[in-house]
Amino acid sequence: MKLFLDTGDVREVKAAAEWGVLDGVTTNPSLIAKSGRGFRETVLEICECVPGGAISAELVATDYDAMLKEALEIHSWHEQIVVKVPMTENGVRLTRTLSDRGVRTNVTLVFSVNQALLAAKAGATFISNFVGRVDDIGGDGMQAVRETVEMVESYGFDSEVLVASIRHPMHVVESLRCGAHIATMPFKIFQQLFHHPLSEAGLKRFLDDWNAAGLEIFSKAKV
Ligand code: G3P
Repeated sequence: MKLFLDTGDVREVKAAAEWGVLDGVTTNPSLIAKSGRGFRETVLEICECVPGGAISAELVATDYDAMLKEALEIHSWHEQIVVKVPMTENGVRLTRTLSDRGVRTNVTLVFSVNQALLAAKAGATFISNFVGRVDDIGGDGMQAVRETVEMVESYGFDSEVLVASIRHPMHVVESLRCGAHIATMPFKIFQQLFHHPLSEAGLKRFLDDWNAAGLEIFSKAKV
């Protein structure tokens, strides 16, 4: 499963890229606004931080002609960019147009398998199923993800299921369990993936025992 960072903060992207396990980045208008920097400069800097990685950058127009113009502009900025398109009638129409032109797309704000089906049929590269916002209102966000993975596999669509709006590491576990292709998450949650109390306790015990035995790797004696 590919791991993406969901952020507009270049500092977070740089830190995560150093771990050697980052496959891409998703942004959205709220995350870019939060960054306090310009859209194009932020997206381009993120591209440079993750060589070869898929970097999603979202258009903001809502009528088809303006959406197409924005999509082609964003696409022109860098070959790593994936144009993020909202799940609307014009968004699906645009996804079809962009797919036919070989432009990669990420259809976002997907909450049902019906919406995912439309995105897949339009040729979406990524389908962003949001889970946290469903959980936030007492639903089971992962249900639509499970149905979407089953749909994509059953009908042989090329679209990749991207689990978005992740709130905690268990969403990543559930994404793995249902065979989703990508999980995108905030930096804080990405960091949480590394940690387990038994790992930290085990490392402490190793180091305490090593030090108590007075052992060294770089021996001072020439042997
Ligand atoms: O960027 C898309 C998605 O991951 C955002 O989800 O609910 O954290 O705003 P959310």
